[in-house]
Amino acid sequence: MSQFDVVVIGAGPGGYIAAIRAAQLGFKTACIDAGVNKAGDAQALGGTCLNVGCIPSKALLQSSEHFHAAKHDFAEHGITVGSVKFDAAKMIERKDAIVTKLTGGIKFLFQKNKVESLFGKGSLKGRNGDLWQVEVDDKGKKTIIEAKHVIIATGSVPRPLPLIEIDNVNVLDNEGALNLTKVPKKLGVIGSGVIGLEMGSVWKRVGSEVIILEALPTFLAAADQQIAKEAFKVFTKEQGLVIELGVKLNEIKNSKKGVTVSYEVDGQAKEETFDKLIVSIGRIPNTEGLNAEAVGLEKDERGFIKVDAECHTNLPNVWAIGDVVRGPMLAHKASDEGVAVAERIAGQKPHLDFNTIPFVIYTDPEIAWVGKTEEQLKAEGIEYKKGTSGFGANGRALGLGKAKGTVKVLACAKTDRVLGVHMIGPMVSELVAEGVMSMEFSASSEDIARIVHAHPTLSEVLHEAALAVDKRALHG
Ligand code: FAD
Ligand code: NAI
Repeated sequence: MSQFDVVVIGAGPGGYIAAIRAAQLGFKTACIDAGVNKAGDAQALGGTCLNVGCIPSKALLQSSEHFHAAKHDFAEHGITVGSVKFDAAKMIERKDAIVTKLTGGIKFLFQKNKVESLFGKGSLKGRNGDLWQVEVDDKGKKTIIEAKHVIIATGSVPRPLPLIEIDNVNVLDNEGALNLTKVPKKLGVIGSGVIGLEMGSVWKRVGSEVIILEALPTFLAAADQQIAKEAFKVFTKEQGLVIELGVKLNEIKNSKKGVTVSYEVDGQAKEETFDKLIVSIGRIPNTEGLNAEAVGLEKDERGFIKVDAECHTNLPNVWAIGDVVRGPMLAHKASDEGVAVAERIAGQKPHLDFNTIPFVIYTDPEIAWVGKTEEQLKAEGIEYKKGTSGFGANGRALGLGKAKGTVKVLACAKTDRVLGVHMIGPMVSELVAEGVMSMEFSASSEDIARIVHAHPTLSEVLHEAALAVDKRALHG
């Protein structure tokens, strides 16, 4: 029977990174994953993120942005391109090639770092002395391996909507939404969260009429509301996305004619028939097939594996990380927990600060933030100062043709320590890293204001916002 120091169940961004770090630290490590590629004929490492999440969605966002720019923005640069055509199947082919390259890259990294990659469903069987017995089920062919430590990184799956079943033909989850090879004439989206906005943007840019139905009365409730309001205006007024807030769904029918959704807004009954409907109402932890109950692995009331701040579960030497545990469902959070757990097993004392995990929504303009929102600071009674600056007069943004958006820096009224940075604008997915770094190093807004920022860059808007905290903006 094979014995390992560390066995990781799941090779998403949490699991594969945990396995690589454990192997780097000298542990004999195996990583079990049951994921297969789109064709279903080969193992595909990388989990949701690489196969049906972060990476494919960003590939489609880029393709659709190019199409939109060629159609609408090139002319002002003096570029005439004639009639611009869009081939959805080709876009999906490009996306698939990126996915294949990256999932293959993990296979290579496993070999390089001597992580043993095992295909199949992993489950906890019980203890043999100090060791955990883990079953690997490769389509019925079952093997038992043993490990001193087990890291569970089994991720999440889409939250089902009781009103309708996902068929990934007309009613789509993220997997189906990322694989449409024809542009739907009319696309419905349930949920105006991150997937709804990103996927809604993709298909809107390439010609779909898009209607997003959101249950909450507030748009992007987790984001700073100044930024959320600006985003709502751009998406609806300028880009033509229809976003209905405060929606109560009554009935959804999937027929040959399309998908008909009956709903209410402010007590008013409405109905829409769509060619395709994306259901993106959040994700739930995936603990299916782990044998959690039999071995006594505790879960919380929402089904997440219960862990402490260091990712220990209630079972000795069993750890859990990523989407299957509390905290934001983000790839970088999963990976950083993976690194931290491998290092804890090695006796190190890593630290992961949940308050400095950045959030990004890859719409155009992008939305990104780190730290507390104004709403959170008010609710917690923390006195703060704020500085804002816009991309409207930023030279680089004007050159890019993307001179739209705002950066806001929130700092403690007493100490000036940066408490939050909120952005909407071009490439703010990259700019937010400066906010993260500032907060990690306990910087003050004055620190950001006194750092030299290259000219002309988008980062000058963050610089100006930091200067504005102390009412000394130079261009505002
Ligand atoms: P997962 O990536 O879900 O991986 C879990 C792995 O475990 C899978 O490979 C699965 O096959 C395997 N597995 C499950 N059970 C077993 C078992 N019993 N035995 C063996 N293997 C098993 N996050 C971002 O940070 N940025 C983004 O831009 C972003 N975009 C996204 C876009 C979409 C459309 C979606 C759906 C998600 C997106 N996310 C994004 C979220 C991100 O994908 C997740 O937070 C991340 O993948 C979680 O990583 P994980 O390792 O915890 O789990
Ligand atoms: P989400 O939590 O971002 O948004 C779900 C939305 O659906 C919410 O606004 C919620 O109020 C709404 N909703 C819930 N039930 C509803 C109902 N019955 N009717 C109408 N609306 C309803 O979840 P989403 O978009 O499914 O994404 C899942 C997770 O994947 C995200 O939470 C995020 O962690 C991750 N993700 C991250 C991305 C990024 O970092 N750029 C991109 C895409 C996904």
